[in-house]
Amino acid sequence: MLLDNNAPKFYGRRQGRKIRKAKTSLLDTFLPQVKINLDDNLQSANLFGTPVQKIYLEIGFGNGEHLAGQALKNPEIGFIGAEVFKNGVANLLSLITGIKEGQNLPDKFHLLPGRVDNIRVYDDDVRLLFKKLPDNFLDKVFVLFPDPWPKKRHASRRFINPENLQEIARVLKKGGILRIATDHKVYKSWVLHQLHNHENFRWTATCGNDWKHQPADWVETKYQRKAIREGRRPVFLDYERI
Ligand SMILES: C[S@@+](CC[C@H](N)C(=O)[O-])C[C@H]1O[C@@H](n2cnc3c(N)ncnc32)[C@H](O)[C@@H]1O
Repeated sequence: MLLDNNAPKFYGRRQGRKIRKAKTSLLDTFLPQVKINLDDNLQSANLFGTPVQKIYLEIGFGNGEHLAGQALKNPEIGFIGAEVFKNGVANLLSLITGIKEGQNLPDKFHLLPGRVDNIRVYDDDVRLLFKKLPDNFLDKVFVLFPDPWPKKRHASRRFINPENLQEIARVLKKGGILRIATDHKVYKSWVLHQLHNHENFRWTATCGNDWKHQPADWVETKYQRKAIREGRRPVFLDYERI
């Protein structure tokens, strides 16, 4: 493997437990059908296998529950999901094809009935994808429960940082939304601080409480349910690109 010395350093896990047969097969044969390559033409909405009116990006989609749920509810919107963690990418593919371990694998994988071809996957660090995305390309960006890196000495690893906010501001259309959710106190304060009086973003909260409730168009995830079970209250912060 060639190492790209210009690639930004990534501190999370790229792979977890051994990926079993069905998901390995999805990664080998279905991922190429929905994958974004950096040399693709990313200039247009033709990126998807269906006409789309808007494009949303989910950064770090984890196991893909929110992404798969949003894409099902919004067939007229194209979704780009970026995730480095291979097991998570495989899980997303399992959710959208309905293929599970233990079943006989078909010759060819298809999306589950009722789904349109409105998801594209970038299976690497989104900071590499940013470089290829045109200005004003996206209508919404989700950064949900990012790794908090709570220790002070790891603060520079937090995804919400001035450099990434600048890229998100560039690729978001004016009036577009950056949605951040977190269940971590340190990260909540960090986000509020990073975006306070930001020249490109305006917090949309209208009262002291609405950011404690999940937005109407939200899709619940396992991660979020676990946080609540363990006594952590997630917050949902929507920022408008101004
Ligand atoms: C704590 S998990 C949350 C996953 C998911 N959003 C959820 O709510 O369940 C954070 C995820 O972000 C991914 N991630 C972190 N930095 C990333 C980057 N630069 N590009 C793509 N994915 C990233 C990690 O691999 C990890 O799966």
